[in-house]
Amino acid sequence: MKVEEKKRIFSGMQPSGMITLGNYLGALKNWTNLQDDYDCLYCIVDMHAITVRQDPVKLRKQARDLLTQYLAVGIDPEKNTIYYQSHVSQHAELGWILNCFTYMGELNRMTQFKDKAAKHADNINAGLYTYPVLMAADILLYQTDLVPVGEDQRQHLEITRDIAGRFNGIYGETFKIPEAYIGKVGARIMSLQEPTKKMSKSDENKNNTILLMDEPAVIMNKVKRAMTDSGSEIRHGEDKPGISNLLNIYCACTGKTIAEAEKEFDGAGYGAFKTAVGEAVVAELEPVQKRVKELEKNKDYLDEVIKNGADKSTEESWIPSCDSLIEKMEMDEVLCILSIFL
Ligand code: TRP
Repeated sequence: MKVEEKKRIFSGMQPSGMITLGNYLGALKNWTNLQDDYDCLYCIVDMHAITVRQDPVKLRKQARDLLTQYLAVGIDPEKNTIYYQSHVSQHAELGWILNCFTYMGELNRMTQFKDKAAKHADNINAGLYTYPVLMAADILLYQTDLVPVGEDQRQHLEITRDIAGRFNGIYGETFKIPEAYIGKVGARIMSLQEPTKKMSKSDENKNNTILLMDEPAVIMNKVKRAMTDSGSEIRHGEDKPGISNLLNIYCACTGKTIAEAEKEFDGAGYGAFKTAVGEAVVAELEPVQKRVKELEKNKDYLDEVIKNGADKSTEESWIPSCDSLIEKMEMDEVLCILSIFL
């Protein structure tokens, strides 16, 4: 079957720290559900990660850990294209070109830039500013149809669509305009201590996050310490952000509905509820952790997956992936898009 027959999905994650339960339940677990019906590229966006200072040795390890975790949750390297962004030079090349089609006024409106600039006030570099443009390049390079994105990345997808539309308006149909993938959306997992903000792998308070690789005892402990709300009812509601978050976690791990869970814990105290939540998380993560440990022993296999991913993502059929791009540029190698100007 031709690759083109399936719709193409692109998504990526930064190797900027340990994966959290939020990344897993909100994104990774869903990626495994897409792999049969779509032609998926799952990228390890290491070039995005260097928009904040990274230690090279740590970054390399984190990228490899992230790849291992992709595989451990069941993202199949045979069915999908799993690769490092930095192994495909076209991301940076297209990123530059798109920079020239992006207005500062647009970038100035990006809320993630404002947040990150506030957080890294000593290093507000131009890469951080043009981060969304590199993300646009990731997506547009492969003529992506659909991008599964969380709320926090919607603005970046919007700017991607705007940039693509602008380029097409000037040079003719070149890029496919990507859309957000609206499917069964993953659970949005919030911080354990501050349940009105998202669980984030860069959170400094370790009690806010459950990591994919946390030991069972650590998980139980973090869940037990999670912030709860006033009252003793176990119910989902805007006035109960802490309990709602724990219910979401419980349901995402067990497959139960919120209504079923509320019924199950009707009359139970917070203590018993939290124990059940902790146990559900442990049960969900243990098999993944086991697989990570097995994969880590198999260095050659991981090397091979990385190498194959780099090859697959740069195959001619992908880059330039779209016939119109090939025609327009009459090139089948690197810098395909630059040739518009040469
Ligand atoms: N910015 C995304 C995030 O932090 C990661 C990312 C980079 C991405 N390029 C992408 C996500 C392309 C989807 C598509 O979550």
